[in-house]
Amino acid sequence: MQIKNLDLNNFRNIESLSLSFDPGCNIIYGENGQGKTNILESIYMCGFGKSHKNSKEREIIRDGCEESHIRAEFGSVINSHRIDIHLRKNRPKGVALDRVPIRRYGDLYGNILVVMFSSEDLDIVKRSPSDRRKFLDMQICQIDPIYMDHLVNYNKILDQRRELFKSMEEGDVHQFQDTLDLWDLQLNEYGSRIIRKRREFIEELNEIIFEIHYDISGGKEKLKIVYEPSAREDDFYEILLKNRERDRYYKQTHAGPHRDDLSFYDQDKDMKVYGSSGQQRSCALSLKLAEIDIINKIKKEKPVLLLDDVMSELDRNRQTQLIRSLRDVQTIITCTGMDEFIEEKLGEVRRIRIADGRMINSEE
Ligand SMILES: Nc1ncnc2c1ncn2[C@@H]1O[C@H](COP(=O)(O)OP(=O)(O)OP(=O)(O)O)[C@@H](O)[C@H]1O
Ligand SMILES: [Mg+2]
Repeated sequence: MQIKNLDLNNFRNIESLSLSFDPGCNIIYGENGQGKTNILESIYMCGFGKSHKNSKEREIIRDGCEESHIRAEFGSVINSHRIDIHLRKNRPKGVALDRVPIRRYGDLYGNILVVMFSSEDLDIVKRSPSDRRKFLDMQICQIDPIYMDHLVNYNKILDQRRELFKSMEEGDVHQFQDTLDLWDLQLNEYGSRIIRKRREFIEELNEIIFEIHYDISGGKEKLKIVYEPSAREDDFYEILLKNRERDRYYKQTHAGPHRDDLSFYDQDKDMKVYGSSGQQRSCALSLKLAEIDIINKIKKEKPVLLLDDVMSELDRNRQTQLIRSLRDVQTIITCTGMDEFIEEKLGEVRRIRIADGRMINSEE
């Protein structure tokens, strides 16, 4: 998949900008705070309907403006897609795929394939469990849009369950018993589907990541990702029942997919505990490269890869590994300056210089 054109209006510090991209490698460069990440954020939004920073729409609309537009054209071997996103202050955003308004982000997932790798992602091994869950969820959504519905439903019931515990405190417990029984059945229904999907995804990921990481570590590390569910799909319901009293007392649900985590092991060593910061970064790199392969395997199409400030954070060896894997993947890289080593390795690139939200020049 490739992004061909991007038009932005009143998007963060960008008043108006039209860009076209090469099918290969594109480098967006410029000084700090000029709008490079903003451009990648807008492309990410085309794939996921929302910002990778989880920003509110109000924050994305250019200061002093009422609305903001993203328009992009994506092409693939099979078909092409046009996406329009219209952000409005105090009103829900409008998203259209091929000019047809869509209501569920699920309709974007799997149609527009985008992978974002930013410098913060390099720390995924040691970040919080919720960051790792978010990583996992976004990946699965792209290859299985129904998964998103399970997540939305699960989280809704989780909230309702918490509200119910609050009501129980104030009223007669027995009066709410039937509702709690119902919530727990539903929580189990969606929760166990989420757990199963996550487990299957990690199995698939492990089939791919081993070799990628073996190469990246120069044959030294045997990486395995371990899924650590807080409950298994076949005993989730039982655990819910067993935890009820405690859950009610603390007004929260102690077990379930919202408490899952992932670990990264080199043989029997937990990289979170024993890995050097370089080794942890290599795991993150392998993870992203494996993600591209999984999408390609399932969707028969490679995603657009967005690399935000990543190159400068990697050593030469890892830069080379990354660049070697970029063949046949359209890549959009941001950096503050051009680097001779990277340029030489990348071969032909399109350079786009950005200053103050505007394009200064664009050369082949
Ligand atoms: N809603 C908004 N309206 C106007 N400007 C905004 C808005 N949101 C963010 N900005 C501005 O956008 C700029 C940041 O842009 P961006 O993060 O893309 O920079 P960058 O080029 O990636 O910089 P760096 O090299 O530091 O990563 C900041 O100057 C910020 O103030
Ligand atoms: Mg940036």
